[in-house]
Amino acid sequence: MKTYLIYFSPGGSTKKTLRNIAKGLINTEIVEIDMMKQENRQKKFEFGQNDLVLLGMMTATKLFGVPSQVIGALKGNNTPFVGVVTCGNGYYGSSLKVMKKGMEKRGFTMIAGGGFIGKYSFGRGIAENRPDQKDEAIQLKFGEAIHKKLFIGNNRTLHSKIGIDWPKEGSFSTIKCAIISMIPGLGMKLPASWNKLNFDSSCIKCDKCVNTCPVGALSLKDNVVQDQTKCIGCQACVNGCPKQSITIASNKLIKSVENVAQYRSKRKEPKLFI
Ligand SMILES: Cc1cc2nc3c(=O)[nH]c(=O)nc-3n(C[C@H](O)[C@H](O)[C@H](O)COP(=O)(O)O)c2cc1C
Repeated sequence: MKTYLIYFSPGGSTKKTLRNIAKGLINTEIVEIDMMKQENRQKKFEFGQNDLVLLGMMTATKLFGVPSQVIGALKGNNTPFVGVVTCGNGYYGSSLKVMKKGMEKRGFTMIAGGGFIGKYSFGRGIAENRPDQKDEAIQLKFGEAIHKKLFIGNNRTLHSKIGIDWPKEGSFSTIKCAIISMIPGLGMKLPASWNKLNFDSSCIKCDKCVNTCPVGALSLKDNVVQDQTKCIGCQACVNGCPKQSITIASNKLIKSVENVAQYRSKRKEPKLFI
């Protein structure tokens, strides 16, 4: 039996979360598949009923990025899976439910799931060091519970109902979350005009942003060039730039981030389903 950690994690907190959970799984070989890499999303990965898949994705109320490509690359054969979604101290909306449905169509059975908090992709001091030590302890225990349930008890039934993580504090977030959650489809995207980036002259042309972009939206000619229609706004380039040369250019996106950021200061804890 092998355990696969499969993630789409532009800022790294989803990947960390999966690795922390996996520490609770004893006596299983761990294999990682990074779905930030386009070539991995173009492959077909097939799993047996004795494998375990831990799938981790970041959210923007729904699954964010290219979830249909990620899930579409996976094929289970009654394969147990653990769904992991992360959000930036806000709400993961319907994403875990949507992931469950999408994975079940691909031959997987959800045996556990969790909505976790990761460092906010847009900074502003929100969820700055998360997952932190407290999260790590919770994630390790969650991994141990999965180990006990599946590896010791051979129990594949999900006993908890996966709900929608819903805002209560402000009408703007509540309505936004409700609307986005109700729109059919696996994932959610920002309008292309919101993805415009500025590249300033401190750029050292190191190529890191070009290589980390999950959709090939950046190329290096004399300077870094962005294809705004390809860009999904995941902030991997902004957060990974060693010189902080890349910034958001869209005032609409900046305003939207400022707007939601005012509701994000109170620490949220993970929600677990097993
Ligand atoms: C375009 C975009 C929209 C986001 N929307 C939300 C949101 O609605 N609520 C929230 O809590 N976090 C939101 N986030 C933050 C991420 O879900 C969060 O920071 C996550 O931990 C990032 O995972 P990563 O570090 O693996 O990339 C958003 C991030 C991006 C890039």
